[in-house]
Amino acid sequence: MADSIRIYMTGSCDGLDGLRDALASHPELDFVGWSDHVAEAAPALAGGHLQVVVHATGSQSFPAGEIAAIREHTRSPIVILASGEASALLEEALDADGVADVLLLPQLTENVVFALRKAGHAGRRLQAEGGTSRHGRIITVFSPKGGTGKTVTATNMGASLAKHWGKRALLLDLDLQFGDAAIMLGIEPEKTIYDLVTAPGELDSEKLAGYTTRHASGLDVLPAPLRPEDAELVTEAKLARLLEVARESYDVIVVDTSPFFHGPMLATLDRTDELLLLCGLDVPTLKNVRLSLQTLELLSFPPNRIKLVLNRANSKVGMKPKEVEAALEREIAFEIPSDRIVPLAVNRGNPAVLSDSKADFSRAVRSMAKSLVAAQAAAKQKKSFLATLSRS
Ligand SMILES: Nc1ncnc2c1ncn2[C@@H]1O[C@H](COP(=O)(O)OP(=O)(O)OP(=O)(O)O)[C@@H](O)[C@H]1O
Ligand SMILES: [Mg+2]
Repeated sequence: MADSIRIYMTGSCDGLDGLRDALASHPELDFVGWSDHVAEAAPALAGGHLQVVVHATGSQSFPAGEIAAIREHTRSPIVILASGEASALLEEALDADGVADVLLLPQLTENVVFALRKAGHAGRRLQAEGGTSRHGRIITVFSPKGGTGKTVTATNMGASLAKHWGKRALLLDLDLQFGDAAIMLGIEPEKTIYDLVTAPGELDSEKLAGYTTRHASGLDVLPAPLRPEDAELVTEAKLARLLEVARESYDVIVVDTSPFFHGPMLATLDRTDELLLLCGLDVPTLKNVRLSLQTLELLSFPPNRIKLVLNRANSKVGMKPKEVEAALEREIAFEIPSDRIVPLAVNRGNPAVLSDSKADFSRAVRSMAKSLVAAQAAAKQKKSFLATLSRS
């Protein structure tokens, strides 16, 4: 079946049964399976292995919710089969993200197979470019000092990535003993990372989805354990698996951390694409950031992945950003101003980037999120260029 097209079918409509049987036994198709309901199809759709998803609908209007649900799991082209008077959905469907074709039933099997072959060709190309499965970017926010603004930065950045930049984003609170990301976001989660890693069975995308809490911005949150003593059950191995699974489900994973290089943190660093190293305008923090840079070098962490972030950059405390750069022998990538809206927003449990979008702090976070999104797009482009080169 090397050249056959791998397809999965969801939904139902009039006249589908006979066509489905014909497609399932067609020699040019590798018909993986079908499910009447998209929600039940999640495990089959995920993983980037399909070249086409066929969705059948008896509705006369465009099934936007179901197409979006399919898109949650796969980037494969979608072919819509509709029955009856469904021509009204045609234009909207063809404008939708990733809908390759719409066929009104009844149709000859060969016509359907022809449309699937066309869509399958595009699906193969996407796969070759690595576009069918997600490979989320891991952005770790770290500082060796408490109170530097890690959680403020991680929560505001996560909210901005989800709300302003349309990213499927997860905030992972790896301050395992005293994490407060959920509080800063004003959410009261029922489940935490502790519940996830101690739950029986293999961890996969579907299971992860059952343990996250959605913030109003669209950001998913996996909070720290409720009790400090539960932290030790979040082992390095569990965390490594969790990050691999999260990468398949999200465009970006923002990790908030504690000021230590513990086992789970090392597992995170191994997978980190961008390390936002937070620094402040004070000598003790500077000394510890310098030590952290040395530790990162010993750990062979790629220096080009480290982005120095100066928080409270405008504070008048007798030290200038240039002096920080000189002391750390590294350029500051982003500056975040000190802003009184931040403690107010923290106490309200609503990220400033959402509640006070015009404030200087919010503009700075938003533009930092934008440049991380641009870096992600550039990395993806490079990957697809390299894939093209290796094919030619
Ligand atoms: N840019 C800023 N402007 C004003 N206040 C800030 C700013 N950044 C952080 N803060 C304040 O500093 C406090 C500490 O920040 P935060 O909790 O994010 O630090 P942290 O590095 O996560 O600390 P910990 O290591 O203890 O988790 C916050 O409650 C917030 O009010
Ligand atoms: Mg914190």
